[in-house]
Amino acid sequence: MITGLNHITIAVKDLERSFQFYKEILEFKPLIRHSQGAYFLAGDFWFCMDLDSRTRAAPLPEYTHFAFSVSSENFENLSTQIKKSGAKIWKENVSEGDSLYFMDPDEHKLEIHVGSWKTRIESIMKRPWSDSIEYFDVSNSVDSSIVIRPAHDHEACFLSGLAVRSKSYWPYPPDYLEKCYNVLKVTSEDIRNWPVGVSELNGEIIGFLL
Ligand SMILES: [Fe+2]
Repeated sequence: MITGLNHITIAVKDLERSFQFYKEILEFKPLIRHSQGAYFLAGDFWFCMDLDSRTRAAPLPEYTHFAFSVSSENFENLSTQIKKSGAKIWKENVSEGDSLYFMDPDEHKLEIHVGSWKTRIESIMKRPWSDSIEYFDVSNSVDSSIVIRPAHDHEACFLSGLAVRSKSYWPYPPDYLEKCYNVLKVTSEDIRNWPVGVSELNGEIIGFLL
């Protein structure tokens, strides 16, 4: 069984240039260096570079990238340091948690990110970007204060709003959403007559089942 990610090795065209970038700009801790490569620690993660004349001359056109963790206190300083180094920015952040998307001297796509898979899953559960998200075993990811309980009569209006807000994540025209409201609307009667359950995270309703 795989127990985790062991190390990452990147190919570099200019060992000195890359060594300086990862050591001085990203503040990785060098472990060893030789004529063909170097080992670093990024936090406690093993990161390697190998001199390789075949290293690509342009960034991958696709989204593949490596993301490194940074604390929220250090995010701004490190971001400034990276931008000042002249590193190219390859994407603006639009998702939960601070991120800076930049490239190293060989244009490997990198990211520094504040957060973890746990904060991401919690954020998705609070504000799903799609009603088709399938959740697997995320029991370790969510706060133990998630509660599933029957809905109360007086929550009908809130649940109706939640349903419409979820639907309106997608760019449907307003008149279509208005029509949806009649279908999605939850009434006190529904709650009294049907088994309606709500899920609460830290006391806030994040979803329901009717
Ligand atoms: Fe990422």
